[in-house]
Amino acid sequence: MTRKLGTQGLSVAGIGLGCMSMSHGYGERGDEAESIATIHRALDLGVTLLDTAEAYGPYTNEELVGRAIRGRRDGVILATKFGIVIGAGSLKMDGSPANAKKSVEGSLRRLNVEVIDLYYLHRRDPAVPIEETVGAMKELVEAGKIRYIGLSEVGPETLRRAHKIHPITAVQSEYSLWERGIEESVLPAMRELGVGLVPFSPLGRGYLTGALQSSAEFVAGDFRRNLPRFNDQHMAANQKLVAIVKQVAGRHGATPAQVALAWILAVAPDAVPIPGTRRRKYLDENLAAVSVRLTDGDMAELGRIASMTEGDRYPPAMAQAVER
Ligand SMILES: NC(=O)c1ccc[n+]([C@@H]2O[C@H](COP(=O)([O-])OP(=O)(O)OC[C@H]3O[C@@H](n4cnc5c(N)ncnc54)[C@H](OP(=O)(O)O)[C@@H]3O)[C@@H](O)[C@H]2O)c1
Repeated sequence: MTRKLGTQGLSVAGIGLGCMSMSHGYGERGDEAESIATIHRALDLGVTLLDTAEAYGPYTNEELVGRAIRGRRDGVILATKFGIVIGAGSLKMDGSPANAKKSVEGSLRRLNVEVIDLYYLHRRDPAVPIEETVGAMKELVEAGKIRYIGLSEVGPETLRRAHKIHPITAVQSEYSLWERGIEESVLPAMRELGVGLVPFSPLGRGYLTGALQSSAEFVAGDFRRNLPRFNDQHMAANQKLVAIVKQVAGRHGATPAQVALAWILAVAPDAVPIPGTRRRKYLDENLAAVSVRLTDGDMAELGRIASMTEGDRYPPAMAQAVER
């Protein structure tokens, strides 16, 4: 299954691969050999979109992806991001033109490629007009360093202003059965402008797969410990959501992860989710979601999940960086 991202000519396989957890976010780094084998298997199975960011690691996730695609660049649509200040201690953004120009050089070097296919601003910098940031990204397109421009977690106004400076190919935002905050205002603006959607954390950071019961399962350094939705009270309360996903999955002989992905593919024909995994076993399972056909009844049942979800997505400081 191929899907178009945006209206500038970018086409990718309908499910991509999020590479973050191989080096960052969810506790210990993945086993490097298995992570690289996972990327290779993804490419063998027809995945084209690989997602990373300068901030993952920091830097080491881009290096890992760079090593994995060595000799296999053809057919890969490489997406990375800049704009989060590395080592700032708390979430801080730098969307200045100078940082865009400096960051792209680092990403190109670490990924060991001549051009980045899709370059995102990771979070909008409130101190820099979006016109200036995207103006600098446009210059990177003109210089042949990046091919397409993306924005992550922006609101409709930022998107419209940015799109006037240079066509935006994709917005990457959290979107899943339990996180549908973009539907009200961002998604309509994206559709009006012909901007594609790349849903991140489509498995609810693993929760919607049914694999997580309590925060005791998180090893030291797991970022989910900081998220209200992943405290023990909310993790227990939200098991009722997983029960719905499991029930639907049971009817299809599918897994909850497959249902979570099939729901996105069905509800948003312009979306290319990027489930993250560092293991081939989950990769195989997740890619098979394309053959799960949900019925109208399934969609109605699954559609109840978001409004039943307990717990905020982010703590206040991180929530502030997300526009709606
Ligand atoms: N733009 C942004 O601000 C932003 C923010 C977050 C993420 N992202 C991107 O989005 C990608 C995906 O998001 P995510 O990794 O946060 O969340 P996700 O894809 O919703 O879930 C990933 C988690 O689920 C586990 N998992 C994957 N498949 C599974 C399966 N079939 N059964 C059970 N568990 C499974 C993974 O385990 P293992 O890793 O141990 O295999 C990992 O812990 C990231 O890799 C990153 O590229 C972007």
